[in-house]
Amino acid sequence: MKIICHGGAGHTPKVQDGVDKAAEEGMKILKETNNPTLAATAATIVMEDDFRFNAGTGSCLRDDGRVQNDAAVATSDGRMGAITNLQDFKNPVLVARELLDEFVTMLAGEGAIEFALKKGFKQSKVKGSEKGWTGDTVGAVAQSSDGKISVASSTGGVRGRPVGRVGDTPLWGSGFYCDENIGILATGVGEAITEQLMCYRVYQYNENLEEALEWGVKLLPKDTGVGIIAIRNDGQIYGTSNTSMPFSIIED
Ligand code: GLY
Repeated sequence: MKIICHGGAGHTPKVQDGVDKAAEEGMKILKETNNPTLAATAATIVMEDDFRFNAGTGSCLRDDGRVQNDAAVATSDGRMGAITNLQDFKNPVLVARELLDEFVTMLAGEGAIEFALKKGFKQSKVKGSEKGWTGDTVGAVAQSSDGKISVASSTGGVRGRPVGRVGDTPLWGSGFYCDENIGILATGVGEAITEQLMCYRVYQYNENLEEALEWGVKLLPKDTGVGIIAIRNDGQIYGTSNTSMPFSIIED
């Protein structure tokens, strides 16, 4: 079993302890359940609940001072769920996870809020972080002992972007991708990642994982921050970035 977590492209190494804690929690859940979806979401929740990260409670603010969150979860057995512009829920990744077993794969704004409330999540003001840059999207990829892979990702987006803006995080193939061969997540400038359909193209590159991810970050100009993490079904696990990106790997 394996887990890789990242704390966001562009984030300071000072938050490495928070990413390590996320990976430890994910591995604990993986050992208890052998369920990579529960493990990847548990790890992501640790970072959503840590105010130093740009997700959940520490999310950055839109240009009107509000928090709007995007999140996604996907599994190697072909399920996915994503929410975008969800407002005032502490753990958006849990709302995205609920969509795994629905026919609908993605919900936005009011629809996402209605769905979350119907599923029993409590809506309460998420103040977010008024600090300067606190990194980008956080996330985790986990693999169970029987080879199943899941990915989970969550973000407050990019500071100052307009209300209703959608980044890469909830976009299938851009910010996340998962099938029986690979689980892969991106973090960084959402517009640039989306334009490159980054996760799917990195998967298609399909050399050894390290080469594929290093090729992927080079799709963007050096000054456009991006990071990628992935686990492949042959057990390869890797993370890289063209900027600082705290990440943590645990294998058992
Ligand atoms: N990568 C997150 C965003 O651009 O929203």
